[in-house]
Amino acid sequence: MQATAGDCEGVEMMKDETLAKTDQEVIAEAKEAHAKAEKAEDRASPSRWIEADCYAELAKRGWKQQKIAEDCGVSQPSVSYFIRCTELYHLGDKRPSFWTAYQEAKTGKTTAERIVASNENEWYTPAKYVEAARLVLRSIDLDPASCKRANKIVQAKAIYTADDDSLHQPWTGRLWLNPPYGRLAGEFIQRLVLEYEAGDIKAAVALVNAHCTDTAWFQPLWDYALCFTDHRIDFDSGGREKTTTSTHGSVFAYLGPDTNKFKAAFAEFGAVVRRVK
Ligand SMILES: C[S@@+](CC[C@H](N)C(=O)[O-])C[C@H]1O[C@@H](n2cnc3c(N)ncnc32)[C@H](O)[C@@H]1O
Repeated sequence: MQATAGDCEGVEMMKDETLAKTDQEVIAEAKEAHAKAEKAEDRASPSRWIEADCYAELAKRGWKQQKIAEDCGVSQPSVSYFIRCTELYHLGDKRPSFWTAYQEAKTGKTTAERIVASNENEWYTPAKYVEAARLVLRSIDLDPASCKRANKIVQAKAIYTADDDSLHQPWTGRLWLNPPYGRLAGEFIQRLVLEYEAGDIKAAVALVNAHCTDTAWFQPLWDYALCFTDHRIDFDSGGREKTTTSTHGSVFAYLGPDTNKFKAAFAEFGAVVRRVK
């Protein structure tokens, strides 16, 4: 048996001879991988995949999860989630970091689905970025994707919240936009570009994930000035305990007449670029 662990290169993997191992040897291998992972491993956690494959192998041999847990010195729910990870990502597949799979196993949702889940939209922009946008826009008339808490920092004259369903409301003036994640991000950005180009919106600064640059909805933004951050923004979790943080850089897009002002205000956050024509 050969495990491929995606980004887990350079680690000892389960070998073909695993099948020939006795149950006790598989348990010993699981324990060794568990101890290794507990000691010092980054989030890619290659040993966790080995541990999970051992539990799956024992389950295949007819072991009950409770018995696996007892003999390997871990909890039964852990065994259950670990086995679920091996079902989501089979041996031989290109596997993600173990903890990505573990979150999916635990929540029953893919990472993308978790991001779309409502409370994962509640990530607010730290003040220094909003202040830079305010400098460029002079004032913020509308934040079309917001809530009461976020607007303490943004201080837009008007906001739309999830309850208002912004996509069916009028957008005008000078906008700050950090849209909800997932599918809605594209719909918000498409609308922003359409309405700016139609003249309904005077100017706007939008903030999106830098991993979206290959999407269809991002392409029109290449016609505008962009700032790619040279760091990951530490978004405000709105008072919730932080269990995650940005996994990507971000991009600010400026739709407006004063590109030099945008460059001056955002250069401290990363490279400000424009398409070469
Ligand atoms: C990523 S947060 C950004 C908040 C704020 N604009 C900022 O920059 O700090 C996106 C916000 O949009 C809200 N939202 C989600 N769906 C929405 C919708 N259909 N219309 C308006 N707001 C929505 C979320 O509740 C969340 O507060």
